[in-house]
Amino acid sequence: MRIDGRAYRTIWQTEDGAEDGAVAIIDQTRLPHDFAVARLTTLEDAAHAIRAMLVRGAPLIGATAAWGVALAMRADPSDSGLERACATLLATRPTAVNLRWALDRLRARLAGLPESERAAVAAGEAAAVADEDVAINRAIGGHGAALIRAAFERKGGGGPVNILTHCNAGWLATVDWGTALAPVYVAVEEGIPLHVWVDETRPRNQGASLTAWELNRHGVPHTIIADNVGGHLMQHGKVDLCIVGTDRTTATGDVCNKIGTYLKALAAHDNGVPFYVGLPSPTIDWGMSDGVREIPIEERDGREVTDLTGRTADGRIETVRLTPDGSPVANFGFDVTPARLVTGLITERGVCPASRAGLLGLFPERG
Ligand code: MRU
Repeated sequence: MRIDGRAYRTIWQTEDGAEDGAVAIIDQTRLPHDFAVARLTTLEDAAHAIRAMLVRGAPLIGATAAWGVALAMRADPSDSGLERACATLLATRPTAVNLRWALDRLRARLAGLPESERAAVAAGEAAAVADEDVAINRAIGGHGAALIRAAFERKGGGGPVNILTHCNAGWLATVDWGTALAPVYVAVEEGIPLHVWVDETRPRNQGASLTAWELNRHGVPHTIIADNVGGHLMQHGKVDLCIVGTDRTTATGDVCNKIGTYLKALAAHDNGVPFYVGLPSPTIDWGMSDGVREIPIEERDGREVTDLTGRTADGRIETVRLTPDGSPVANFGFDVTPARLVTGLITERGVCPASRAGLLGLFPERG
């Protein structure tokens, strides 16, 4: 994606990276008020970037973990160094399965290699993970754009297609393109008129701060709404389809995504609004079949609920408290939308029903 005329990915090896292996990321904790690039040079830098959400979004977490292993191999390419790197990175965030997927991939690639080769091979594999993510998401974009086109034709020229999305599953959540938003970007390229309803996504406001920022930069018509608004819009025919991302989807099609996604799926079901999920294959957990019972749900610091950070009129970034001192807080990061509420999964290989049979139809090698 382009920012001020320059093409960016969300993570890349720096020009001097051949010397110290440095990797650059966009620091997403500074958006939307400040566009800042941060440099990662150690395993601890990569782990911190994931844990503190300088990078976030399932595919980008996976890509950062892959680069984290590459950085670790420069310092300690021994077997115990590899295991320590994987354990450190795996402990950063529990829900997005792309993290485990990337670490398993790097571990398998490096196993049995001489220590002298590991750093270079790990860097090559991390770059491949990133490149493949871009290709996967572009393909999701093509398949999803066909759904948007079909919705536009169903409207018979009755205005733009209104798409509701939750959290940020755009290019900032991936290496490029996004998952839920890739169809939007491809549809815009194809000239299909559309408009995106952007859920603010409390408590961290990834919709209001990140999705809105990237749609704005790309010139995509959009409107930020409070999290509770979607059901009302659907009742009044103002949403043609929902497209969300996912952090882990079971082999049976249960979709774990940012907290609040389930409520949007319920409202969509009640109002006959199609509910689609942009699903890159590294986000499928083929070993799980009951999302509600099996997927680990991240619980985060209560300050994300009690406090709000924003820019004051004179340009300072400040954090203020919303809640009474002493009131207890719970902060669950994700929820699970059962497969029965999902109209279709948009994968890089095409769109399928949210079911084991549907997924195996596209990924028969997993049967
Ligand atoms: O807590 P986050 O910001 O990492 O959560 C991100 C999401 O839930 C996204 O919707 C998800 O990763 C979709 S994949 C691009």
